[in-house]
Amino acid sequence: MMENHAKWIHMDKNMDSAVLIKKIELSGKIKKAELSIYGLGLYEIYIDGEYVGDEYLQPGYHSYDLVNEYRVLNVTEMLRGNVLNHELKVLLGNGWYKGRFIFEGGFENLYGDHLKLIASMSIEYEDGTHGVITTDDSWKAFTSEIGKNNIYDGEELDYRLAGKAVTFTVSKDGKDLLSERTSPRLLKVEKIRPKQLIITPKGEQVIDFGEAISGWVEFVCHEEKDTVVKLQFGEWMVDGCFYRENLRTAEAVFSYVSEGKEIKVRPHFTYFGFRYVKIIGVSKIELKDFEACRIMSECPENGKIVTGNEKVNRLLLNALNSQKCNFFDIPTDCPQRDERLGWTGDISIFADTACFNLDSKKFLSHYMEMVDLESQLTDGAVGFFVPTPKIHFTKSDKEYNPFLTMKRGTAVWGDAATIIPWTLYEHYHDLKLLEKQYPVMKRWAYYVKRRTEENKNTYLWQNDVQLGDWLALDAKDSDGVFGLTDPDYIASAYFYYTCCLCCLAAKELKLENEVKYFADQLKNIKQKFLEFYFDEEGKLKIIETQTACAIALKFNLYPKGSREYLISKLKLLLNENDNKLSTGFVGTAILPTVLSENGMHEIACELLLNEEYPGWLYTVNLGAVSIWERWNSVNPDGTMNSYGMNSLNHYAYGSIVGWMYRYICGFIPIASQMQKIIISPQYCKNLEFVNGEYNTPWGCYESKWREDGEYINYTIIVPEKGEAVLRLPGIEEVTLKAGRYEYRIKNIK
Ligand code: BGC
Repeated sequence: MMENHAKWIHMDKNMDSAVLIKKIELSGKIKKAELSIYGLGLYEIYIDGEYVGDEYLQPGYHSYDLVNEYRVLNVTEMLRGNVLNHELKVLLGNGWYKGRFIFEGGFENLYGDHLKLIASMSIEYEDGTHGVITTDDSWKAFTSEIGKNNIYDGEELDYRLAGKAVTFTVSKDGKDLLSERTSPRLLKVEKIRPKQLIITPKGEQVIDFGEAISGWVEFVCHEEKDTVVKLQFGEWMVDGCFYRENLRTAEAVFSYVSEGKEIKVRPHFTYFGFRYVKIIGVSKIELKDFEACRIMSECPENGKIVTGNEKVNRLLLNALNSQKCNFFDIPTDCPQRDERLGWTGDISIFADTACFNLDSKKFLSHYMEMVDLESQLTDGAVGFFVPTPKIHFTKSDKEYNPFLTMKRGTAVWGDAATIIPWTLYEHYHDLKLLEKQYPVMKRWAYYVKRRTEENKNTYLWQNDVQLGDWLALDAKDSDGVFGLTDPDYIASAYFYYTCCLCCLAAKELKLENEVKYFADQLKNIKQKFLEFYFDEEGKLKIIETQTACAIALKFNLYPKGSREYLISKLKLLLNENDNKLSTGFVGTAILPTVLSENGMHEIACELLLNEEYPGWLYTVNLGAVSIWERWNSVNPDGTMNSYGMNSLNHYAYGSIVGWMYRYICGFIPIASQMQKIIISPQYCKNLEFVNGEYNTPWGCYESKWREDGEYINYTIIVPEKGEAVLRLPGIEEVTLKAGRYEYRIKNIK
């Protein structure tokens, strides 16, 4: 609990970093000490020089203007013992709050222009007395050894900067926004040793850590006093040399001025998305001195798939790693360039996979709290990214990137408001959570509804700028980003889908009137949709793309009798494209599912296994260690595409992994039912075997199959408290109780 009389300490000058120190004098032996603390932009705590807690980059990134999520730490052990005098030190840095942030050069001081801190420590003594220490004017403030620092550019660590007294004000800033944090911990989850040292043709010294990592590198410095050591971070090597063009304006450098002592150093208020690190200023690089630290939000492992196909296994790992790299307090689009924003569309698309891979309940619920808070201020509109940084525009709107000035929500991106809650419910079955999130779902649906009421064709969403099938390959111009599928068609279909999810949620929550309201909406939207987008023969009137057909099939948005037509059209379109996809963010997320659910599972498998461009294994063949933003992020010769927007660590296309859980392992959660799932594995050639695990709140299911000549041997394991409805080809559906089951069935290819 933050004590009532704790006051904000507010640095007088706009500084990059500061140290605040409080001398503590205990009156006796303590029983318990608890520290409640919140610092902006970012803070680290030390007691008697020792790091407090196991989290980094605190308080993380949330909508600082709407909520201030403080942390409560038990510090008893650090203060116990015979010593009564201690020192509490808090280091402050810029972070998302006031460091350079957002794309295209970015902005500074987005949420505020002064570092600030509020803290209170409540102490229970063994003799039953009680003491409280709070932030007030008895603290002392100094410059720290940290110079320039921000999320994109990195950090300068220079001992010569430290120790100058600076002034602060004990401010009367309000404390209404303070509330105990609900986000999962932001932890150093893994330490990764260097794989090799590369001396490039340009003579650069580059350490390869072998995997995609978000976090930083820690190293032991042996250099002479005042030597400047620099670590620069990148994702890819081009022509054997270090490459960082795709980071755009993000400098991504950690620089350190040697103190002349052999100490381990690390950054504090920045992080990097990388595999390669270029080292400058180290006279003799010893790999043993370097270690990469993966930092991410605490999301326990959840599911697992292993197959007999090494390339597919690598793809599975790439999707998991991209999730790990982008689950950084908020779900980011990418961890490396001058962006790293909580793009709503990316997580709408990836949420299902995310929940299969890792226990994402706490992480995504926390994100939804931000979506909720922000959408209350925008009449239900959900922005492109959340948190939405508060920009103080100084020029006319036209002079800014439209993403910054556009205030309206867009389809699929804004649909995060309905898709995430429903996905969480499907995986975690927490009715209380759904109840909490239902208002934001509804607010979004009503927002879109109001937009459609202003449209000429009511019930259809055709009157706003949309992102379409973002990055689809069928765009008319080769560097077009919106794809060929009619964006208003996508938007209208997703309005239907959003109402559908609201209707399902209302049913679960037993809100009869709401069920009726959304059921009516669905009827009306569908009627208008069919009238507008289908001709009398039941064919689509818009350009028929893979995505357009997949959307109609996925949401059941076609006139009676058109299903066969849409299936054959989709087959034809794929066939004409060499059975390769041409879809972007939207289409890719649903195409494999639509194929598997409409008798074209084999084609879905072909998409998965295709090793040529464009496809998932094309990226694996080129040495991908994460999921790329674009199908053609890297050219066949290993050079990077020169697009300004080209990250190698964007999880959206990793949604194929959700399809693998659902259609290869066959784990189909049933939202409305606890303790039961459907298991319906489907064969996929060239995998040889599949071992799948899926953890539900009531236990772990396993679904395994292995090819054995003309037969497939299946093993299904149902956890003690669970049941499974098993669907296997050629046998009748059965409900299995807890236990292990084996089947040997002739393969119907
Ligand atoms: C981001 C995305 C995002 C997209 C939408 C990009 O700059 O990296 O992944 O969804 O913009 O326009």
